[in-house]
Amino acid sequence: MSRPLAVITGGGRGIGAAISKRLAEDGYDIILTYNNSSKPAEMVVEGIRNSGIDAVALKVDCSDKGEVGLLGIHAWMNRGVDALVLNHGEYRRIAAEDMELEDLDRTMRVNFEGAVRVWKTLQKHLNEDARMVVVSSQLGIKGSPHGADYSASKAALSAWARSLSQTVGNSGKRVNIIAPGFVDTDILAGDSAQKREERIELVPQKRIGTPEDIAGVASFLCGKDSKYVNGAIIHVNGGLYLP
Ligand SMILES: NC(=O)c1ccc[n+]([C@@H]2O[C@H](COP(=O)([O-])OP(=O)(O)OC[C@H]3O[C@@H](n4cnc5c(N)ncnc54)[C@H](OP(=O)(O)O)[C@@H]3O)[C@@H](O)[C@H]2O)c1
Repeated sequence: MSRPLAVITGGGRGIGAAISKRLAEDGYDIILTYNNSSKPAEMVVEGIRNSGIDAVALKVDCSDKGEVGLLGIHAWMNRGVDALVLNHGEYRRIAAEDMELEDLDRTMRVNFEGAVRVWKTLQKHLNEDARMVVVSSQLGIKGSPHGADYSASKAALSAWARSLSQTVGNSGKRVNIIAPGFVDTDILAGDSAQKREERIELVPQKRIGTPEDIAGVASFLCGKDSKYVNGAIIHVNGGLYLP
């Protein structure tokens, strides 16, 4: 019998790479997508294949109709998708009052519409009990003084995913949302040592999260132990933000 199949957008680096590796450990074959970072994505795939699991990296700009369309006709789609993790996202630091409509348009196109586009394209391939996990952000709830476009895109993403959870629930599918706090990836790479210490100080657990902290929750949400969890927003932030 073939293994279940997971698709992870932005699965070649950062949080997405940790999720790809973790779901491979859980026994899924992996389709991961990347946009610009082909080398890290190929390295993740190589590591997974070395463990005896099938994996492939596909170049998919999630905001591009044609590239998402190619994902939808990949041969492995015939098997059906068991777990879909909409993880990709971009963040640019822009003061809220300086945000231009072009900034908003671009961020919404990638972070929000890109996720919806992937979902709509893969919808027909989702197996009866497929699990979908959307990687949103705490900033989608509390806003951000230097990322109004990002916060708006993540708020839209969470609201859309919760809406979807209410309509797909009766078919056996589930949709859940992870809202990470500070996670050690390239998004925080520009921090000075002082800024990093300030962030750590804000977190009750006194550390920045790791991509694996998020991957563990994604694994739970894709697994059997969460079969009655649907439409939830799981905050993974060390207690930093308690909405
Ligand atoms: N790190 C944090 O503190 C934090 C906190 C809250 C939420 N998040 C969310 O967690 C998710 C993963 O972020 P990360 O921290 O791992 O950031 P990251 O290291 O910057 O990774 C971003 C990922 O998104 C992909 N991506 C960006 N634009 C894309 C596009 N147009 N089409 C397809 N893929 C695209 C990138 O692929 P390429 O490199 O190939 O372009 C990369 O795999 C994002 O949705 C982010 O908003 C992160």
